[in-house]
Amino acid sequence: MHSDPRAFWRPFDQAAHPAPLPRITRGSGLSVFGDDGTEYLDAISGSYNHCFGHGDAQLLDAVQRQMHRLVHFCSVTGDTGLTEELAATLVEHLAVPGLRHVFLTLSGSEGIETALKMAWQFHRNRGAARQKIASLADAYHGCTMGALYATQRGFCKDGLPFVSGDDSLAVPPPHQGGDLEVWRELLERQGEAIAAIVVEPVMGLAGAIEQPPGFLRGLCALARQHGVLVIADEVFCGIGRAGSLCEAAAQGAEPDIVVFSKCLGGGFSITATVASDSVFAGFLGDSMDRAFRSGHTQTGNLLGCAAALHVLRRIRDEDWCGQVRRAGVALREALESALTGSAEVATVRGKGLMLGIECTSFDACGAVQARARAQGLLVGTAGKVVKVAPAFPISSQQSAQLVELLARSAR
Ligand SMILES: Cc1ncc(COP(=O)(O)O)c(C=O)c1O
Repeated sequence: MHSDPRAFWRPFDQAAHPAPLPRITRGSGLSVFGDDGTEYLDAISGSYNHCFGHGDAQLLDAVQRQMHRLVHFCSVTGDTGLTEELAATLVEHLAVPGLRHVFLTLSGSEGIETALKMAWQFHRNRGAARQKIASLADAYHGCTMGALYATQRGFCKDGLPFVSGDDSLAVPPPHQGGDLEVWRELLERQGEAIAAIVVEPVMGLAGAIEQPPGFLRGLCALARQHGVLVIADEVFCGIGRAGSLCEAAAQGAEPDIVVFSKCLGGGFSITATVASDSVFAGFLGDSMDRAFRSGHTQTGNLLGCAAALHVLRRIRDEDWCGQVRRAGVALREALESALTGSAEVATVRGKGLMLGIECTSFDACGAVQARARAQGLLVGTAGKVVKVAPAFPISSQQSAQLVELLARSAR
């Protein structure tokens, strides 16, 4: 069937000249297949979310069993047991002291909005009208209107009402000079007006940039002195992707709220916004006045819950965090040595299987991605950075193939 190619309005693309993309109709493991039979090595795991690859039989079985039991039920009308089981399992596996209360949504953006609303209402419940949200320049935290409040990428928010201005503060990330001293000054000046700081322990779209040792821990301590909540955005880096379940905790930090998405559902939609005991306590009371005012039709989407339960158990039982750390180091080292000398590549970095290849220009980045695709390798891009985040079970042979194809794609 030849449908109108403009019927589907593709995200983040110029609809007048849509980028020519392959038509992908099937996936298996780390491979996806075009309708003409072409096989591609998928180095971005769908949208960095298929942690066990495409068509994983065990994951599909877990979801299918739930699908036949009950696809959906309204979580304000009855308990299914599954949402409660997922929340308890996530808390148990995270094992981060105090981080014990899970709110479920579908997308990462919704999870971030939920965290922002929690922070705003937390302060309001205490009689404080804190409005400002501070986050790192260049950070991406989602593209719904609320999440854009924290996102600091002009391309996503410039020109839109409500999402910019004095209440949405962008602070340079540590690698651009925004160290703890900068934060200390900001918090001393404006701390009483700031509701929350949103930060990625490893910045995804900004280019797989890990926060320097001690930064996140110090930021949480500083924020606490000023009564400001810290929201760790682990939509991308959490649940094994950077080699730990909770990257903020792995970096020794104690955020008040953590948001997990992408790998949590292994390709199915589920997002968890996990709040600390003290945030949760701020909503308890005798009347609905203090109750958290948020919820969605798909809060606790049961297929996502079944997927997440499977993912969490398997990550722990099969030590996927350890496997990701080892595979990530080997892949990064191989990429560094293969790409050294390329005029189009400035640096390779990242943590676990969340890698970024910074190119010398936007054009070079697009060219590397296009050449890779022509040779059967799918990578992502953001700005000048080629993003590489394959599924966790990448074999050494697939890793070598990925490196060879990228080396051939970068001139
Ligand atoms: C760090 C981070 N936060 C939030 C989001 C938004 O998630 P979603 O696209 O599921 O709305 C993304 C998406 O890439 C992300 O990388």
